[in-house]
Amino acid sequence: MKGIVLAGGLGTRLHPLTKVTNKHLLPVYDKPMIYYPIQTLVEAGITDILIVTGGNDSGDFLTLLGNGKEFGLEHLNYTYQEGEGGIAEALGLAAYFAAGDPVCVILGDNIIESSIRGAVEDFAKQKRGAKILLKEVSDPERFGVAELEGDRVVRIVEKPKKPVSHYAVTGVYLYDARVFEIIKTLRPSDRGELEITDVNNAYIDRGELTWNELEGWWTDAGTFPSLYRANELVAKKKMS
Ligand code: DAU
Repeated sequence: MKGIVLAGGLGTRLHPLTKVTNKHLLPVYDKPMIYYPIQTLVEAGITDILIVTGGNDSGDFLTLLGNGKEFGLEHLNYTYQEGEGGIAEALGLAAYFAAGDPVCVILGDNIIESSIRGAVEDFAKQKRGAKILLKEVSDPERFGVAELEGDRVVRIVEKPKKPVSHYAVTGVYLYDARVFEIIKTLRPSDRGELEITDVNNAYIDRGELTWNELEGWWTDAGTFPSLYRANELVAKKKMS
């Protein structure tokens, strides 16, 4: 399985911090943000990794990460997203890299406490379709929210005003190679982006989306409160 870290976009919600550098290079306690999703993939046994960067200072990713030696990797792959066309657009740029293999996608601003190895192994057995990781949160309106019937996800709504559950869709997605065909059929949402939620709903429509519950804590780091929270969570863990 191949790994893809999505670290494109312009990070405008973190202005002025992101006026002079890329969001994913900002510190989360003692490491740049991008270290955490890369570590999550490597820990899960995924070593063939593509980083989709974008925006300003994208060259700094190379300076920082090189070939990934610090993570025990021999090589890292990079590609560039122009502008901020959405998570699904960024993923679409990885089609050449996936080259028919299944992919484990992780958002560059998602910081995860525990291992995703179990989900990766489950998906490898699933053979086709998609798997998402859900986490119960107190502020679901900030995320994609899963509507459940029994243990099936029947719909995902992106940032609903009135969430139907407390299950947030985290930024870890497992897809078979057909994801790149699905992305080609998407239209931009009201916020002008190709939405990953539309990709996941397409798999639901095919009856091919499964989910696992993410263990341990999880946070994004794309807003001031969540970046602060990410720092606190990582610091507490390091010091415990
Ligand atoms: O964190 C999980 C949430 O991430 C999910 O619950 C939502 O369903 C999903 O849409 C997403 O929500 P956000 O609005 O928080 O995503 P954001 O625009 O902050 O982008 C998250 C990461 O995705 C970002 O750090 C880099 C990558 N990205 C984003 C965009 C818009 C790209 O690579 N390219 C892009 O154009």
